Amino acid sequence: MIIKDIQFIKGATRWEHLPEDGLPEVAFVGRSNVGKSSLLNMLAGRVKLARISRTPGKTQEFNYYRVNNRLYFVDLPGYGYAKISRAQRNRWGRFIGRYLTERASLRAVFHLIDSRHAPTARDEDVMALMRGGPVPYLFVLTKTDKLSGNQRARSRAMIKTVLEKAALEVPVIFTSAKDKRGREELLQWIEDLAGEPG
Ligand code: GTP
Ligand code: MG
Repeated sequence: MIIKDIQFIKGATRWEHLPEDGLPEVAFVGRSNVGKSSLLNMLAGRVKLARISRTPGKTQEFNYYRVNNRLYFVDLPGYGYAKISRAQRNRWGRFIGRYLTERASLRAVFHLIDSRHAPTARDEDVMALMRGGPVPYLFVLTKTDKLSGNQRARSRAMIKTVLEKAALEVPVIFTSAKDKRGREELLQWIEDLAGEPG
């Protein structure tokens, strides 16, 4: 897929605010600071499309980007951010859970995992939600530019073990927003799963 045009459409904070035009959606989910917004910018080829911050918890909305007037990229709020209230955390958890399981136009879920760390308990919640569900589900390992050759091999082994333990079979894409690793592979998946006009 070639991204010819990408535009920020809205930041939705409630179910009722999600777009109703029925365009296919691909979602990017993961813990705070894992690199969701950076990955979107990398895919878009635009440095400042999605806001990036060293401070986790920056993205507190469902951020909708329309691509080629044909589908949406949805940057979900990062979870696991300690500095928001428990009530707000629960509310977001429920919203994300509902979105991942009930959103009719959802065509694929890309679950971002930091390539240097094992998935967190919240990540495992998402894995459990997606397991056996109807929506195609993929792992995207982020920040691989920070890994040495050895660490890369360790990262692969770690994720293999995690998937085996969770009885999950999902494609794993190794990416870096910094050196654009995995960009073409990811765009190909998006095209295959969410379609592209002829
Ligand atoms: P929230 O919006 O809080 O959920 O975070 P996020 O998942 O959108 O993360 P974001 O893209 O804001 O990135 C968090 C931090 O990680 C920033 O300091 C980024 O510069 C850094 N980062 C993201 N991707 C990469 C990467 O591929 N390589 C390196 N080296 N740093 C990255
Ligand atoms: Mg973000």
